[in-house]
Amino acid sequence: MFESKTRDNSSLLVKLMLRKSLLGLKAVEQKCALDLFAGNGEIASRVYQDFPELHLVENDSAKFARLKRKFGDEAGIKLWNLDNREFLARKLKTIPELSVVDFDAYGSPNRQIQLFFENWRLKKQLLIFATDGFTLARLRGREFSPMLYCAGPDSESGAGYDPVLSRNFELLIRAFWEEMSKLHQFRIPLFKILWKKRRQVAYYGLWIEPK
Ligand SMILES: C[S@@+](CC[C@H](N)C(=O)[O-])C[C@H]1O[C@@H](n2cnc3c(N)ncnc32)[C@H](O)[C@@H]1O
Repeated sequence: MFESKTRDNSSLLVKLMLRKSLLGLKAVEQKCALDLFAGNGEIASRVYQDFPELHLVENDSAKFARLKRKFGDEAGIKLWNLDNREFLARKLKTIPELSVVDFDAYGSPNRQIQLFFENWRLKKQLLIFATDGFTLARLRGREFSPMLYCAGPDSESGAGYDPVLSRNFELLIRAFWEEMSKLHQFRIPLFKILWKKRRQVAYYGLWIEPK
């Protein structure tokens, strides 16, 4: 995964609005949330704290210490001081059921999204939220990584993701999810995308269900 500078350029308000609007549709039962980029718990404390089960994953020790102070004693909340890729590979399968997964990344969350589906069999409706700052990271000097936007078997070559396509950020995101849905056999009844920083950062949410 490529990371931009480790600071949060996002707007909390827009992120919260997105999450609350999709949760408000009641497409999923609010049982268990998994926040893979938990940070300081700003989203979790406002959106997921009342879920009966909540998993927060954060690899930065200082932020993890803050999460511990904020949520440490609460029943149903489990804190993981791990790289989320390790969590997805080793711990995800220990969770019996999921209602929401949150990928509020710096840079692109797509490697984590791929890993999630490699390790999770979708049995019910699921809400997914993500922040993708790929375009912003690129403006800050990161290389375009076509593989990150290919879900399927061609992902080694990144075939088809030419420089013109790489400038159409929304198309890249949607094409990635279309491939994911075919590869992992799910439908996407709803996809909502909001923008920040002149379309350099995408905030999106989707409701998925197994085919
Ligand atoms: C945009 S911030 C998340 C903000 C958070 N959602 C909140 O509401 O406070 C991204 C966070 O992901 C963490 N992070 C980045 N890469 C990670 C990884 N591979 N594993 C776990 N956490 C990671 C960063 O330390 C940072 O705290």
